[in-house]
Amino acid sequence: MLRPEALTERTPQGIAGEISRLVAEGALAPGERLPTVRDVASELGVSAGTVSAAWRALAGAGVIVTRGRSGTFVREDRREWLSPRVNHLVAAGEASRLDLSLGTPDPVQLPSLAAALGRVTPLADTGRYHDLPVLPELDAFLRENWPTLGVEAITVVDGALDGISRVMEQVVRFGDRVAVESPGFPYFFDLLDVLGAEPVPLAIDGEGVTPSSLARALSRRPVAVVLQPRAQNPTGASMSADRARALVRVLRTVPGGDRVTVIEDDHSALIGSAPDVTLARWLPAQVVHVRSFSKSHGPDLRVAAMGGPARIIEQVVARRMLGPGWTSRLLQAVLLDLLTDPGAVARVRTARLVYRDRVDRLVAGLRRRGIDVGEPDGINVWLPVRDERAALVHLAAAGIVAAAGSPFVIDDTVGPHLRVTAGSATEGVAVIADALADAAAAPPLG
Ligand SMILES: Cc1ncc(COP(=O)(O)O)c(C=O)c1O
Repeated sequence: MLRPEALTERTPQGIAGEISRLVAEGALAPGERLPTVRDVASELGVSAGTVSAAWRALAGAGVIVTRGRSGTFVREDRREWLSPRVNHLVAAGEASRLDLSLGTPDPVQLPSLAAALGRVTPLADTGRYHDLPVLPELDAFLRENWPTLGVEAITVVDGALDGISRVMEQVVRFGDRVAVESPGFPYFFDLLDVLGAEPVPLAIDGEGVTPSSLARALSRRPVAVVLQPRAQNPTGASMSADRARALVRVLRTVPGGDRVTVIEDDHSALIGSAPDVTLARWLPAQVVHVRSFSKSHGPDLRVAAMGGPARIIEQVVARRMLGPGWTSRLLQAVLLDLLTDPGAVARVRTARLVYRDRVDRLVAGLRRRGIDVGEPDGINVWLPVRDERAALVHLAAAGIVAAAGSPFVIDDTVGPHLRVTAGSATEGVAVIADALADAAAAPPLG
């Protein structure tokens, strides 16, 4: 199976690289059993420890899985519910000491849902099909805290992606173009594939989407622009107020810019450090702003708020009546409790500071090792690497998992990266920064 002549280095990295290539080429099929460590060691004339180290790195990178006494197998992709792009992004965290691949909040930093559930019972009668889809008290709270005054319509959806996909279904037709950030959120690329829309990439710098890339994208007449105003996933960029004004100028001056629907995904609203920002302040008739509570209050709450022009929001609400109907009012009551209970509010504020500290310390550690990742907000760091696969295998050998960068990219101007969820780096920042710096410098395998 192994091609000893193809091995340039009989080190754990060299062996891992060769196996990884055989899997990528299909010479080793998903589910296929690998020979034993002892057989490989004697075939290659290396120690069993060297082969075991290679196996550990491959398991950490999600290439193989070990099933106790039954042996070691090429990993089968059993997450059929995820797209190929997202499958590539999701690493196998099982063999790792530290999983920094997830892009999700640290569970320890979330306010207690159990306590909130206790506080909101007994519930009033919230089970009527024809009542308002949003609890009036939550609606009032959201309007009071919305980043623009007097938002025309507001609703509550089952997470930011639910809201965004439903807005897209309203405004995007098969064959339309949609401008999206690259690097950006892989699920948006999948969503455009499903809608039959053509993505037009927008570039990102430390202040968000660049005005020049927006102008270029608008010249291709997209029907919508999707952007993340804060803690952009994966780069961590938050839009400055100046940048927001510059983007508004572009939308106002490029022909057709005034007919584009701008969808803003403020997915990390309450855990980011940057101030609220929205183009709706200037363009209320064409901006839908989505605010998720997944990062601050837990992804499993599945609640986000969405505000914007009534002509779009009301269509989404009406369409949802033929599906989920409304977002569980029980969950809405839990969210309202968590947004107003002093203990829960303090918990979320502390989480924001904890993430700020963890990200800052990792960024400083990387800078000391000569790696500049900008000044990311939120929980993620976008790490430039020499080679994506080598970096993942290298990191896995140190017991750390990060997310592959390529699923976040749809154009070829962005070099290889990993997305590292620094918000989950609870300890050992120096060790993590060392491992990341080594991984970033790792040459292509084999
Ligand atoms: C950029 C971005 N948008 C949307 C989401 C999903 O948010 P929600 O759970 O509210 O659907 C995420 C989750 O990681 C995200 O990173």
